[in-house]
Amino acid sequence: MFLFKLFIDWLLVKIYMGKGSGYGKVILFGEHFVVHGVAGIVSAIDSSTEAIVTKGKNGLVVKDDRKTAKGYSKEKRLQQIESIERMLRAMRLDPKTALDIWIGGSLPGFSGLGASAASSVAIARGIDEEFCLNLSDEKINQIAYEAEIAYAGNPSGIDNTAATYGGLMWFKKNPEGGQDLVEHLNIRTPIEIVICSTGKVANTKAMVEGVAERKKTNPDKYNPLFSQAADLAIAGRRALERGDLEEMGKLMNENHKILQEIGVSSVELDYLVNIARKQGAIGAKLTGGGGGGCMVALTPGKELQEKITKTFQAEGLDVLATKIGVITH
Ligand code: MEV
Repeated sequence: MFLFKLFIDWLLVKIYMGKGSGYGKVILFGEHFVVHGVAGIVSAIDSSTEAIVTKGKNGLVVKDDRKTAKGYSKEKRLQQIESIERMLRAMRLDPKTALDIWIGGSLPGFSGLGASAASSVAIARGIDEEFCLNLSDEKINQIAYEAEIAYAGNPSGIDNTAATYGGLMWFKKNPEGGQDLVEHLNIRTPIEIVICSTGKVANTKAMVEGVAERKKTNPDKYNPLFSQAADLAIAGRRALERGDLEEMGKLMNENHKILQEIGVSSVELDYLVNIARKQGAIGAKLTGGGGGGCMVALTPGKELQEKITKTFQAEGLDVLATKIGVITH
């Protein structure tokens, strides 16, 4: 009976709808700098966005059932419509194709966690299945990159790559627009982290544009910071690969400092970073686009992770206690 029900569910999905999934992510080193060709380190997390896509009748209808920061869906609504039209175009479908799309899953809609990229990958996979396109992961990743342009203006591609493939990665954008460098990193054991949301929705596009503008007008200040970011990512990779977590935490703290200097941290993010460090996190930094969004703290061991999680929860904040290196490619 159970197997029969499973078969019927599978058949219904095959006939009437397309399903897809995309991972959330946390950037450990290099956000913003990656946009300009500096290498970064990203890890998929064990939370994902799921999408169900069916051919519709009344234009584009999106039902967003994700848990989100207050105002997230409204703030992202226009970018979401543009992103889906961009995806359809990249799939050589009519950008005005009528679709009913449901989005949900365990990844909350908090800025900084790659929620837009995860939803784009999930929706692209859903459309792929619904229209029997048989697209490869590589193609899905390219399509999600197109969608990311709606959310980030000039994305590096780090978020959609993590959302598509999962894993822990070294990522370097090819500034000439060719193949990006993506290397999967192996660590001995997954490492506990705590992600805490400021509750503030951020506009990634505005944050990315702001950095590019300030870099252009103030190269004397910005160029050395970009070199420092490149060195930090290399040192971070070495520390991660040899399991030197103390060193990695120290480098994450330094990374936060240069993110402050390029103007993408905020009072709320600095507050969360300071709490995490005071409670014993061995490193803490903003993660993602900044200007709100989320903070990540390196908290190896269950005990430390729980302590820091509880501290944030006691302040009424939204927390994700998870691990890096837990989703393998
Ligand atoms: C956003 O998660 C990361 C940014 O570096 C933008 C990007 O790389 O596309 C801010």
